[in-house]
Amino acid sequence: MKKMMIAGAALLMSLSMLGQTPLNIQTKKSTVSVNQDMYGIFFEDINFGADGGLYAELVKNRSFDFPQNLMGWNTFGNVSVETVGGPFAKNPNYVRLLKSSHPEKYTGLENEGFRGMGFAKDASYRFSVYARAKSGEQKIRAELIDEQNEIIDKKVVVINGADWKKYQVVLTSNREVLKGRLRIFFESGEQVDLEHVSLFPTDTWKGRESGLRKDLAQALADLHPGVLRFPGGCIVEGTDLNTRYQWKNTVGPVENRPLNENRWHYTFPYRFFPDYFQSYGLGFFEFFQLAEEIGAAPLPVLNVGLVCEFQNKDTSVQVPVNQLEPFIQDALDLIEFANGDSTSKWGKVRTDMGHSKPFGLKYLAIGNEQWGKIYPERLEPFVKAIRAKYPTIQIIGSAGPSSDGKDFDYLWPEMRRLKTDLVDEHYYKSPDWFYTNATRYDKYDRKGPKVFAGEYASHDATTKKANNYLSALSEAAFMTGLERNADVVRLATYAPLFAHVDAWQWNPDLIWFDNLHRMLTPNYHVQQLYSQYKGTDVLAALSAGQPLTGQNGLYASSVKDAKTNTIIIKIINKEMKAQTLNIVLDGYKQKVASVKMVRLQNDNLKAINALGKPDQFVPEEATLELVGSKFDFSAAAQSFTILVIQLSDAKVSDTGKTPGLHGQAGKPTVFTIGDSTVKNGDGTGSNGQLGWGTYLGDFLNLDSVNVENRALGGRSSRSYIEEGLWDKVKSSIKPGDYVIMQFGHNDGGAPNDVQRPRGTLKGNGDEAKNFYMDATKDSLLIHTFGFYMRQYVNEARALGAIPIVCSLIPRNHWTDGKINRDDKTYALWARQAAEQTGAQFIDLNTIIADKYDVLGQNFVECLFVADKTHTTMTGAKLNAFIVSQGVKGLKDCKLSSWVK
Ligand code: AHR
Repeated sequence: MKKMMIAGAALLMSLSMLGQTPLNIQTKKSTVSVNQDMYGIFFEDINFGADGGLYAELVKNRSFDFPQNLMGWNTFGNVSVETVGGPFAKNPNYVRLLKSSHPEKYTGLENEGFRGMGFAKDASYRFSVYARAKSGEQKIRAELIDEQNEIIDKKVVVINGADWKKYQVVLTSNREVLKGRLRIFFESGEQVDLEHVSLFPTDTWKGRESGLRKDLAQALADLHPGVLRFPGGCIVEGTDLNTRYQWKNTVGPVENRPLNENRWHYTFPYRFFPDYFQSYGLGFFEFFQLAEEIGAAPLPVLNVGLVCEFQNKDTSVQVPVNQLEPFIQDALDLIEFANGDSTSKWGKVRTDMGHSKPFGLKYLAIGNEQWGKIYPERLEPFVKAIRAKYPTIQIIGSAGPSSDGKDFDYLWPEMRRLKTDLVDEHYYKSPDWFYTNATRYDKYDRKGPKVFAGEYASHDATTKKANNYLSALSEAAFMTGLERNADVVRLATYAPLFAHVDAWQWNPDLIWFDNLHRMLTPNYHVQQLYSQYKGTDVLAALSAGQPLTGQNGLYASSVKDAKTNTIIIKIINKEMKAQTLNIVLDGYKQKVASVKMVRLQNDNLKAINALGKPDQFVPEEATLELVGSKFDFSAAAQSFTILVIQLSDAKVSDTGKTPGLHGQAGKPTVFTIGDSTVKNGDGTGSNGQLGWGTYLGDFLNLDSVNVENRALGGRSSRSYIEEGLWDKVKSSIKPGDYVIMQFGHNDGGAPNDVQRPRGTLKGNGDEAKNFYMDATKDSLLIHTFGFYMRQYVNEARALGAIPIVCSLIPRNHWTDGKINRDDKTYALWARQAAEQTGAQFIDLNTIIADKYDVLGQNFVECLFVADKTHTTMTGAKLNAFIVSQGVKGLKDCKLSSWVK
């Protein structure tokens, strides 16, 4: 034994000297199973994450119940706030509009939204209001207003009746407006009362009226979260008992959910947001519903009878232990609300809200960041009551606000004494801490409560805590320790989740957004990759007998996934140089395996994603081939790589194949580049839209070629280059590869558009023009569409690849029963660029248009989603087939022989 260890150490030393690190994966010895809820999300209404964020309501202070009743509103003419006689007892205020004193003067009001209102082009918005008329017929007019004070759309609402009734109209925006407003004119009549004035996009998550913002909810779904912790965080505690989060106030009809102060409005006086309140439109029912829809186990956090201990040093303000009964009852009632049948009091409330099926609650946290004796003495009666009535609920206690220290050391034994199932640990620390703490859980006590890493994030103070690549990479390294210790750490959620770019209190945050767009951070991608590749069982991954936890700057962990029949290896290289790992798969007998490699890499640790460039930093994927059970793997400098080895019973012969891991050795790769019609979102169809690049491989002989779809939604011929996406493709190209390119859908806008600076000059000429760019405050030389297409062709060729230019697929626009063609603009210019450079050309625009004309408009409608540009799965498959047929028809192109 001793001898072996010395041999192992000697091997490690000699390999280290060679710059190589051994890594042994014990594929047959699974020690621990991975909790399928393990990686999740933590939602708190901080940074305008709920009102102004995920909750899609555009009107701020819709019920006039902010302490300053008209905050968020501008009134003109004759408007007063009334407090008696409103329709909703818990939100008593409403406004009264009286006819103005002069025919040329007006009465009305405007709402400023949450740092403006975002109106998307061609999107519609439902304006609704509870109203009553003093007498007869009264008319109000709802208007969407843009930043230049222009009216975008307007509709009249006739109010007829002295009883409160709900009225609604739908307004449409014909342009994108980031900071618009809602204006309401009192058009005619004597007196009208208005309450609960609301404006929602009609296109919400799951199409729900008054629902959630679709792009943000989709971002959560795309994380594949196992658990959803809500609603906080500090807001659970409140600054005082009155303003603590009380779940019962957040259920039932939204109009009658009483407003609450949001403690993040004053928590940091240097980031002060006096207009930050909680409408509770996103309440506990909606949280449970969201959790169910995104496949996450709900994990509510309830107040333990303590208000925020940071803000209340005087313990006499806390609820005495002998007066905790209503708080404990809230916890029991919540379990009934989530899991009780429709005959129970709270199960009925849930049923009445439209969900008779129980939500299947299994986790419940009591207390957030509490510390000192005052916490366990309050937690204890909660535990007793919950255990007595609901013994299967897993109770989560807190280890306080720090990852170590006096309070932490006191609370852990207390949680053991109280036998909580899990203990919630929080750590907001430096990247170095995260790298060092990859070993944190290796020596944790295996008995007693498990760990819930309920709030964590790597804070790079040198960049004012930006969501940069350094923070993401250090989190990825740390998370190998979570994965390796999946028997101890059962749940983990990054924090905080959301931040509005104009109204944040805390950074870093996982997802940033403005009123219309979202930006996924590098940290988001790390979370997503862990969740997506969490596996089912942990495999030992050892370097000379030890876990790889920073030796040579390398980190590794491994799992097997019984569901997908794969072995998954995660490797982080934090060094600035590539490093080789000599990987041995112990006990693995398969001769040949297909390996998916997913990688985040950047030479610049300060790299970030930005709103205008949300996808410049995304994981890349490649398909490799593994022959045998040993291989050298070169971990790129500053990279997080996941190798997914597909196990299979198929007996694939390795005759003539060289052992090792091969990046497409002997096989050319077909790279597809372009926009969302080639690859939509992450290319998996999770948003219901797909590009043809996802399916091209279905029509090619994959024994002879690999396909890598490197297109990205929203990109023009110019921005694909500017954002470094083309550089990444170039660094993967080897002689004999193919580059199939299709751009044009996003080239038409203004070159210096503030939101999306991606337009190119029209045409195919050599002219170029300087434009001042808002983002860089500098000028930039912009070329024609044809110029950029020629650049792709020439540069691909210089690397030995074969470029194939495609004209753009048509949009779903028809005239007189014929699909509109682009043959005078982008399709023409793409053809010209191909002719000028002698590149292969597929006239997709014409071929697909011909096909669509034959199929007819009714049929073709089904190939597109509602926006007329993006295809459904069937549409994408048809287009991929047509591309493959286009390839088949190319002369002097070897690729044509590999079309099935
Ligand atoms: O995530 C932000 C805050 O950090 C949470 O509200 C609190 O629990 C922690 O202090």
